[in-house]
Amino acid sequence: MNVSFNSSPVLLTDEQMRQYIVDGYIMLEPVVPDELHETIRRKLADVLEVGSNPGNNVLPRVPEMRHILNSPEVRGALISTLGEGYIEHPHRYCHHIAPVTDPDPEPEVKLAANCHQDSYTPLGRPRQHYSRFARIMYYPQDTPIELGPTHAIPGTQFHKTLTDEDRAQAIPMVGKAGTVSLTHFDVGHAAGVNLLNQPRDMIKFIYVRGSEPTAPSWDCQKLQWQNPAAIETPHNLELVWSHMWDWLCGKRDRYGSFRNNGIQSTKNRLSQYITTLGRDRDLTDRLRATYNLAGLGSDAAEAIPTLIAMLENDHQAARVAAIYTLGAIGEPAVAPLMDSLDAAGRREDAHPVPEPWNEGAISMEDAAHALTAIGQPAVPALTEALESPSEWVRINASFALGELDSHAASAVPKLTERLSVDSHRVVRTATDALGSIRQNIQTFIPHISHLLTDDRADWYEEERRGWTIQDQVRMNAAMAFTRLGKDAAGAEEVLFHALDDPCGHVGAFAMDALRRLDSPAARQAVMAYLEAQRWDESITADRQF
Ligand SMILES: [Fe+2]
Repeated sequence: MNVSFNSSPVLLTDEQMRQYIVDGYIMLEPVVPDELHETIRRKLADVLEVGSNPGNNVLPRVPEMRHILNSPEVRGALISTLGEGYIEHPHRYCHHIAPVTDPDPEPEVKLAANCHQDSYTPLGRPRQHYSRFARIMYYPQDTPIELGPTHAIPGTQFHKTLTDEDRAQAIPMVGKAGTVSLTHFDVGHAAGVNLLNQPRDMIKFIYVRGSEPTAPSWDCQKLQWQNPAAIETPHNLELVWSHMWDWLCGKRDRYGSFRNNGIQSTKNRLSQYITTLGRDRDLTDRLRATYNLAGLGSDAAEAIPTLIAMLENDHQAARVAAIYTLGAIGEPAVAPLMDSLDAAGRREDAHPVPEPWNEGAISMEDAAHALTAIGQPAVPALTEALESPSEWVRINASFALGELDSHAASAVPKLTERLSVDSHRVVRTATDALGSIRQNIQTFIPHISHLLTDDRADWYEEERRGWTIQDQVRMNAAMAFTRLGKDAAGAEEVLFHALDDPCGHVGAFAMDALRRLDSPAARQAVMAYLEAQRWDESITADRQF
């Protein structure tokens, strides 16, 4: 089979990126030899027939799938959405649907029930609006609607929960053998319903952004946001989409595109805009009113209490629009949003564990997302909140600072302090934040190193699916080092030891961190690790040599 590694990645076009931002997914057709898919399909069937689902080991069991993942089209799409130096997550899974002899009489009902947003693995991580986590899904066989293709629910990557309206919007991602979809990790989706007497396999892979965007990483011809020609998501969230686009372009001001698109609003209609936000009004009018308010910037400060009241529980499109309108209003919204965060902290401190802290996926406060959208002016207040008596406030402040990437450089010393004194929930969030911010690196390297070496007996506890808190803490630590590239040199020794961590995810990220560190010793350690793990698939019970 002739598969080349030398071809350049095929980067996404502006229009494909617009679709990804708006709908949360795009479809790809990697150009690989046709017979590759049949080889993969057959080997996968053999693997599933002889034993249990190989879980994360599905790639080493069917290593030919690396040609799909390394194809110019898939590499190019991952670079476009997650930046150069994207990270391959060790979690993968083959979603197998068995052949059906007695087809479901109500497939629409089953499909609606199947709709969900994925959990993170091993334990929970925050859902994110920016393009930081993505999922590749690959079919090794022709997958028409009757075979139960995965469905995507456009635009739900910003949603806190999936509503019945969302479930009714699921769109089948059909395609011939070799079809690949790239989805924002948090987009709602569902396994389709297989009506045929044949198996359906879909293999899922997870990828993570390595560093904040500083320039477009796709084939960008136009820096100004415009809506794509075809939109599947039902509500116009141009304010949100243009913000995501400007972030992906690496612009320091993430409302530049929105303002340049010339929203017409006048200050003397401010009270009318605020009235139109009312929940009894038509959703399209309400969204239009948020844009009018966002167009006024800080002159719309009077709308802040109404917008804050829309957070969390309003229609999903309205709450997302409110978040980014507060972001556009900017500095005057910082103190009211911090008050809102404090109120959430008092509410959650009444519980032994903050209720939104779910070890599948964690939904941070909308106020934290709004503070992130505000940008630099929110950094001092968020930094101060790292010393709040409320754990939930400290978690949200750590998250929001991480979402601000290098804008939050001044918060590094305070975030670093949390690593040795705080709960595992704050430690995990702050570790992620430090890996995103990537500034004043030498300040935190020793502290994150300690997370990989020190034992804390209270972190031995098993949380979910056989995973302990310590597993997740160490995985976040190793992942942060992966993001540092050559700047992780101070952690080299610790990373050598982390290769043998009993948790496989930790070893995988440590290996990737060492690969990126790229010193002679690191290269040698990585090669020795991989050589020792090399699997000879020609060995069988009958032929052991
Ligand atoms: Fe899923």
